[in-house]
Amino acid sequence: MTEMPAECAALASLFPDCVRAACMRVQDAPLHIHDAELAFVKKAVEKRRREFSAGRCCAREALRQLGCNAGPIAQDHNGAPLWPEDIVGAITHSSTYAAAAAARTSHLRGIGIDIETVSRVSAAIAGKILTEPEKARLKHEADPHARQRLLALIFSAKEAVYKCLHPIAQTRIGFEDACIECDPSQSVIRIQLSARVRPVFHGLQSLPGRYCFFDDTVCAAVWLAA
Ligand SMILES: CC(C)(COP(=O)(O)OP(=O)(O)OC[C@H]1O[C@@H](n2cnc3c(N)ncnc32)[C@H](O)[C@@H]1OP(=O)(O)O)[C@@H](O)C(=O)NCCC(=O)NCCS
Repeated sequence: MTEMPAECAALASLFPDCVRAACMRVQDAPLHIHDAELAFVKKAVEKRRREFSAGRCCAREALRQLGCNAGPIAQDHNGAPLWPEDIVGAITHSSTYAAAAAARTSHLRGIGIDIETVSRVSAAIAGKILTEPEKARLKHEADPHARQRLLALIFSAKEAVYKCLHPIAQTRIGFEDACIECDPSQSVIRIQLSARVRPVFHGLQSLPGRYCFFDDTVCAAVWLAA
């Protein structure tokens, strides 16, 4: 894989040391889709194929760094990537960047990663995705630019939570089930889970995470310890 672009190198350091992550510009990715993966993008337009290919390219790089033989990565009936037996991971792509992260199941039970283009996150989604404490935090933000960044971060973090937890529980996890708290001084997030989903994860109350901004992009990373 070509070297990680300087602007998204921060992404690799979001996770604990046991995680391997890779990020690339979609336009730099070779358009290479394994025969065993073709069925998943058979009817897809060129843009989707490129993003799929770039995501898989990052995923194989993360697997390679873990010392795994990285072949085709199929998907389950929900669209989640199917990782080698003792691996957990996640894939994301915006129209500009693709990224993936993976770790051994002896270290982590789940991983979530998500990239969003900040300016493309519509303010109209706020009513649909925010919990009451998140709405209050957003209202508190007087600067429109900072408000847009915070909304994009919360949205990205929730998508990362979904990728981390849904493959484990195979249960509905709605936007109201994850309340995002962030500490901008450390680029740290904590995700409080709703009382509804806690029992599904044996009483788990919260998940840790980190985030970074680069260009017009936000990347959120979350994980669940083994
Ligand atoms: C599945 C979903 C999270 C993908 O996120 P997105 O921002 O739209 O798109 P991204 O490019 O970041 O991620 C796409 C990748 O997610 C992965 N993915 C898809 N479904 C998944 C699932 N059920 N579990 C884990 N990963 C999944 C795939 O790898 C996919 O890429 P690929 O098809 O090229 O392999 C999103 O479409 C979705 O359904 N969101 C609603 C879920 C929700 O309620 N979230 C709130 C919970 S707090």
